[in-house]
This record gives sequence, C-alpha cells and structure tokens, in this order.
Amino acid sequence: MKITRAEFAGSSTNVTQKPSALHPGTDFPEFAFIGRSNVGKSSLVNMLCGRQIANTSSKPGKTRLVNHFLMNGTWYLVDLPGYGYARLPGSERAKIEEVIRNYLNRSAELRLLFILIDSRHDLTGTDADFLREIAGSDIPYAIIFTKADKQGPVATQRQVDRIKEQMVPILGQTPACFVSSSEKGTGKEDILNHIQNILSTI
Ligand code: GTP
Ligand code: MG
Repeated sequence: MKITRAEFAGSSTNVTQKPSALHPGTDFPEFAFIGRSNVGKSSLVNMLCGRQIANTSSKPGKTRLVNHFLMNGTWYLVDLPGYGYARLPGSERAKIEEVIRNYLNRSAELRLLFILIDSRHDLTGTDADFLREIAGSDIPYAIIFTKADKQGPVATQRQVDRIKEQMVPILGQTPACFVSSSEKGTGKEDILNHIQNILSTI
C-alpha cells in the first residue's frame, strides 16, 4: 500500500474525545502502536507516514496522549504512549496507564494492535505482563521488532528468534512478526501490506 496522504487528526486522553467521536462519519478502522517507552513507536509512525508527523525523543516518556493520524483519508494510525517508564513518578505513570487502558478497552474501531519490542534485548518483565494481558483479551495483535539497524542482520535474527521463543509460553502461539528500522525504512512495505490485507477484509 502506498501512503499518499497522512494528516494529524487529533490527540486525546479518552476515547470519548478521539477524532471519530468528535466528527461524525469519520469512524475509520484504527491500527495502533504500543510498547515500552522509547522502543520507537513514534519513529515508526513517522517512517510509515513518510514524514516527521509524530514527535520523537531520545528521552523516554515523550508521547503522553493518544495521537490519531488519518492515512489516505480512510484509516487511522494511532500512536500510543509507552508503558513501563520506571523513572516517572507513580502518579504520572498511573495517569499514562489509564490513558492506554481506556483506549485499548474502549476503542471499538481498533482493528490491530502492533506491539513493539526492541530487537536487541530479551523480553522484559513489563513486556511479558503486557503480552499476557493482550493474549487474554480479544484484541488482535502483531509484533514488531524495532531498531534493527542498531546491530548486524545476523545478530538481529538471532535475538529475534530468542525473543520469539520467550513469547511462546506467554502467548501460546507465534503471532505475525515484523522486523523494522525507522532509520533505514526496513519493514515499511511488509507492515503497510499487512494493514492493507486487514483493510481488504473489512
Ligand atoms: P515514548 O513516546 O517515550 O513512549 O517513545 P517512543 O516509543 O515513541 O520512541 P521514539 O520513537 O520517540 O524513539 C525513541 C528513540 O529511539 C529516539 O531517539 C529515536 O531516534 C530512536 N529510534 C527509534 N527508532 C529507531 C530505529 O529504528 N533505529 C535507530 N537507530 N534509532 C531509533
Ligand atoms: Mg512516542
């Protein structure tokens, strides 16, 4: 799928405020990106959009709101805040987790949740907890291993295989998996084609 148009559509902390709730007739399918703080969600959104539309930062905890981007006028990319940023004060972290939970539990238009995992590291306890929660829900999901350019292809493949093995007992299956680099554009076509395939079944 080619992206010919990517527009910022709005930020919210509650699904009652998301763009389609505010503007009748815009309740298009949604594809959301979640993962630990700093894993590269907003960078991936920019890579898929083909321009710097989402704010990124080298410091974790940058995205605090649910950001909707209208793609080709027919579907939304949704950039979510990161989970598990330990250095935030407890009250701030609770607030962010509430924003994430509200979106995941109550967004009727969510068609697929991409869960991002850093391709260089083993699954963390926070990742495992989140995967367990999603596996126990009815939210469809896929995995994206990020920052593949940060090591050589052989090391990336070895680590990705290792993380997949760590996920099996938690998920009870191997979901659709993608490897990405927002620096190099790796994974763009495969991820957009996966979205296109789902859109074609709606
Ligand atoms: P929060 O909004 O804080 O949850 O973080 P995020 O997951 O949106 O991460 P973000 O996209 O802001 O990226 C975090 C840092 O990782 C930034 O310094 C990015 O430049 C860097 N980064 C993200 N993706 C890649 C990648 O594919 N390759 C490399 N080399 N760096 C990346
Ligand atoms: Mg972000």
